[in-house]
Amino acid sequence: MEKLLKGKKILLGITGGIAAYKAILLTRLFIKSGAEVRVLLTPSATNFVSPLVLATLSKHKVLSALADNDEWSNHVELGRWADLFIIAPLTCNSLAKLATGICDNLLMATYFSATCKVLVAPAMDADMWKHPSVKRNLDIIKQDGVGIIPVEDGELASGLVGEGRMAEPASILVHAIEEYFRSNELTGKSILINAGPTIEHIDPVRFISNHSSGKMGIAIAEECYLRGASVTFVSGPIEQTIEYKGIRCLKVTSASEMYEQVISLFPMADVAILSAAVADYSPARIEPEKIKKHQSEWILELVKTKDILAQIGHTKTSNQKVIGFALETENELSNAVKKMKAKCLDAIVLNTTKDRDATFGYDTNKITIIDSAENIHAYDLKSKKAVAKDIVDFLISTYND
Ligand code: CTP
Repeated sequence: MEKLLKGKKILLGITGGIAAYKAILLTRLFIKSGAEVRVLLTPSATNFVSPLVLATLSKHKVLSALADNDEWSNHVELGRWADLFIIAPLTCNSLAKLATGICDNLLMATYFSATCKVLVAPAMDADMWKHPSVKRNLDIIKQDGVGIIPVEDGELASGLVGEGRMAEPASILVHAIEEYFRSNELTGKSILINAGPTIEHIDPVRFISNHSSGKMGIAIAEECYLRGASVTFVSGPIEQTIEYKGIRCLKVTSASEMYEQVISLFPMADVAILSAAVADYSPARIEPEKIKKHQSEWILELVKTKDILAQIGHTKTSNQKVIGFALETENELSNAVKKMKAKCLDAIVLNTTKDRDATFGYDTNKITIIDSAENIHAYDLKSKKAVAKDIVDFLISTYND
């Protein structure tokens, strides 16, 4: 798991509801993402989750009482230590205390003295969740600056099905990273990324496509977003989805749809990174009915698609940067340089099918970046997420030149 929260300090507050069992997984997820975690429980939460398990996972004593064996727990210190205080689950009762200033346990005392940001993940039964007083209290804490993770829809502890389930630990982690831990190296930059294959229909049941999974483009989009950029991601048909809800995702199918979408979005972008495996040829016609196998031979007429990258490379302004990809099987460097020049790019990312465990479908990739002055930056085989970091570091360095 990526250490996206390396060096960050998370204070996890657990209040007394059934969803408290999920706090164990939440603690583990935060620790695996590199954060230091300290845990606070309300007295009633100790009925739902074991302090011993949480203390073992977090490698710190779990605190619950304001005083322990004549020793006073310093609630001010914890709220100042943390970068983020997450209360998950937040019960109806504890929500009411946050909204009205009732300070009757260590968790509440820590909340009222915390100087860090606070994020809560409510968990309630369906009718409770809909109660007007809950809505009122949520509005109050929102006005107080508390972040609220939306509840999920599904089966509840009561047996009812509806809204009120606490968000899953993985979504809480993503939400926390997205809202509180993005860096600002690309803040103010608008970045357009495309990815995945395109599908060129032949008839209602057949099409031409390729093996692109879109993983590299997703990793680049997420990395740009985590570094503070505003990101628009245009993809052909791919299975994997983008984790962060702040990334604008648009779906297309064919090369001509990809062209229209990218061309219309490019004027608003500061940077475009085109990683899509766009079809170079498309059937001259899409047959309205299924083609029957009457003939012994069938020659499919194909026409060249428009080159999106070349079009934006040639029309970019001096304030815009365009980075393309090149997939080569021979004369890799010289072909990539030719492509970069022909398409008027600021840089090109070269992939070759000769590298094992790289390109289509793999979770790893091996790239060489060639910049407009033809400097060559070669990288080792790494995870696509790590490759995305290298590409974004390269992009940021071009702004600092
Ligand atoms: N590309 C594009 N529009 C197309 C074809 C390719 O925008 N119709 C972009 C790809 O997204 C990639 C770059 O062009 O960023 C290079 O793609 P690649 O397949 O390596 O090369 P081509 O330009 O298609 O040339 P060739 O297939 O002859 O190597």
